[in-house]
Amino acid sequence: MSPIVFAFLAAILTEATTYGQVNVEPNTALLNEGDRTELLCRYGRAINYCRIEIPGEQKVLNLSPEWSKTPGFTYYGAGLNAGQCGVSIERVKASNNGQVKCSLGVEGEELSGTIDLVVALRPQQPIIELISKPDREGFFNENTLFNARCIVRDGRPPANITWYIDDMPAQKRVTPLEILSTPTNDNVELSTSVQEIQFHLAPEDSNRKLVCRSHHQTDRESVPPQEAAYIINVRYAPVRQEEALVYGLYLEHTAIVNMTIRSSPTPRIEWTIDGAVVPQGTTNDRFSAYEPQYLGNDYYNVTLAIAGLTLEDTTKIYNLRASNALGSTDYQVRISSSSRPPSTGLDVAAIVGIVVAVAVLVLIVLLVLFARATGRWCFGGATLNTDIGPDSEAQIHPEQNDDELDGQDNGDEHIDTTQQQLQSEEATPPVTDKLEAQKKADFKKSAAATAAAVIAAGNGQQHNIAVEVPKPPNTSV
Ligand SMILES: *[C@@H]1O[C@H](CO)[C@@H](O)[C@H](O)[C@H]1NC(C)=O
Ligand SMILES: *[C@@H]1O[C@H](CO)[C@@H](O)[C@H](O)[C@H]1NC(C)=O
Ligand SMILES: *[C@@H]1O[C@H](CO)[C@@H](O)[C@H](O)[C@H]1NC(C)=O
Repeated sequence: MSPIVFAFLAAILTEATTYGQVNVEPNTALLNEGDRTELLCRYGRAINYCRIEIPGEQKVLNLSPEWSKTPGFTYYGAGLNAGQCGVSIERVKASNNGQVKCSLGVEGEELSGTIDLVVALRPQQPIIELISKPDREGFFNENTLFNARCIVRDGRPPANITWYIDDMPAQKRVTPLEILSTPTNDNVELSTSVQEIQFHLAPEDSNRKLVCRSHHQTDRESVPPQEAAYIINVRYAPVRQEEALVYGLYLEHTAIVNMTIRSSPTPRIEWTIDGAVVPQGTTNDRFSAYEPQYLGNDYYNVTLAIAGLTLEDTTKIYNLRASNALGSTDYQVRISSSSRPPSTGLDVAAIVGIVVAVAVLVLIVLLVLFARATGRWCFGGATLNTDIGPDSEAQIHPEQNDDELDGQDNGDEHIDTTQQQLQSEEATPPVTDKLEAQKKADFKKSAAATAAAVIAAGNGQQHNIAVEVPKPPNTSV
């Protein structure tokens, strides 16, 4: 048994090595109809003859650089002595598709090689087939699974498929590309490419264009990829939205409170304001609800008119219920007479709070300015020199005394009290005169005593100041 197996293996090996001695270039030629091409088979030594068989051609070509018998097919290569056997095809035909075989006569033997010649054939226009079916009016309900397949028939090589939704690559689940062979009568093999796409439908998919585009070898700038398109129609309940704010309304005028909502089919509208129900197309008291107005692409303008807007109206919440066959959705609208939208949903309480806070701040600023201007409270010190009357020396001296005693200016409180004292003195003249005079005398006494002590300490710097202390008062006793 084993010698037979061995012989068999040897035969295969011999065959393989013999076969392998012919190099081909290229291995596969992918061409369009009418293209020019060169195919070459090579052997390491000189060859006697070069025969080439091309699918779809009746004659076997016997080629050499010396002669050219068949129009459109000429020898290609560096000569038989160089071991080269090639053909130059002027215009490739669709029927040339298949295996090109070259046979090289060499040393009493014949060696051969093959080259795959693929002549591309443009496939048919893609087709989108719906696997999940819409209703009779061509609509799908939201959340249903949309499932379709794209078929690109009779291409060579097989076409590729890509999906787009509104001209953007569709990021959806697709099946692997399936390629089916479609043999034809004249043995010209063609391929059909099939791919499925599926996704759950959301309201935003409504009116979107699903496109299946086939990409093929034969695509050129002048011959763009072919495609099929399907517009998806979706039915859905009115789409939820954040609370809306309508601002810039004028008090005492008719206010138009409008909101844009998306729905398919057309919604029915009902407003509720503080328990008052206003269906579309009706008027209740000062409130009139309009019929929804179609804006296109499933959008509707929903409007409530309020006659003679009051300030109280601006504190209410306007509830809007939109309903259609697929469900109903509630919306809330707030309105405001301010010309700008307040930042991030401030409610009425917050606005009142801010107004109060601003008012308090303004009041404080005014009070401070007033105090500064009139020199009251803590601003007394700053206006000391300009504000005091003729009996002023008594004020200055305590301050200096403080400075001298503490070596630093921490005498604010003292000045404060002094100042207040003096102002009250100014305000109430004769009755307290005697008392005040007495106080001043006391002040002077203590001041003089302090000054004396300072002078005694003999500090030069302090001396300069201390010298002023004993200045004779202008008005005293
Ligand atoms: C088809 O897809 C394959 C794999 O993604 C790619 O190599 C080939 O170039 C594509 N063909 C065309 C004609 O786009
Ligand atoms: C009301 O309509 C105007 C245009 O007339 C629009 O700018 C505004 O956004 C609408 N308001 C709402 C809440 O949709
Ligand atoms: C909605 O309708 C109201 C009233 O007719 C109108 O004032 C408003 O401009 C409309 N808004 C839009 C966005 O069309």
